[in-house]
Amino acid sequence: MKGIILAGGNGTRLHPITKAVSKHLLPIYNKPMIYFPLASLMLAGIREILLITKSEDVPLYQRLLGDGSEFGIQMSYETQDKPEGIAQAVTIGEKFTDGKPFTLILGDNIYFGAGFGARLSDAIKNNEGSTVFAYQVANPRAYGVVNMDENFKPLEIVEKPADPKSNWAVTGLYVYGADAATMVKGMKPSPRGELEITDLNRLYLEQGRMKVEVLGRGFCWLDMGTPQNLLDASDFVRTIEERQGLQVCDPLEIAANHGWI
Ligand code: G1P
Repeated sequence: MKGIILAGGNGTRLHPITKAVSKHLLPIYNKPMIYFPLASLMLAGIREILLITKSEDVPLYQRLLGDGSEFGIQMSYETQDKPEGIAQAVTIGEKFTDGKPFTLILGDNIYFGAGFGARLSDAIKNNEGSTVFAYQVANPRAYGVVNMDENFKPLEIVEKPADPKSNWAVTGLYVYGADAATMVKGMKPSPRGELEITDLNRLYLEQGRMKVEVLGRGFCWLDMGTPQNLLDASDFVRTIEERQGLQVCDPLEIAANHGWI
């Protein structure tokens, strides 16, 4: 199975911290941020992973992750120099995905909860077009938002709505079928000049091929775009790790548990 981590963008909400350092290398308590999305993919058994970042930052990620053999995975790298939208990762990764289904995760998202790896690998097996993961948040205006019926069937998906119809944020983890790159090529940039991942998912929704996996209230999803989020994520990881004496999102531990190393 293949996975793409998008670690692009300029991290402007974290300036000046990210003026000289790639956001996804910043420390989240005791690990670089990029370990968290990497761990999410690995938990689902994904071993072929493409990391997309700015060309000037590729050597840094290569220094950290190399060819992936430390973790029993295969890492490769592509570049996105202008932040032209999350959906652009799908076309940048086209050679890598090679017409096969894949999972895309944003480099600043943390997923933590029992059974998460199995949920993601089941979603990959059951995917019919796109699958998104929804999570209830207090501030839906900051996210893509999905409106669902009482059976969690998606009705509508909107990027950062001024007047959200639900509190279900669409998190930064997406499963796509083989036709995703073709779909993206037919899309136009949004008013902010980006190929929006929400527009791609809406195309699948309109064709009746978008599924929603609901991450319930016992689950933890965090994103790390602002100084407050960074501190919250570090606090969360430290609290769980110190309490349990277990690691949160440790690629070495996950690789060992899978018998990959
Ligand atoms: C992006 C997506 C949004 C999603 C969010 C999750 O927003 O556009 O749909 O809810 O990631 O982290 P961004 O954080 O790039 O503004």
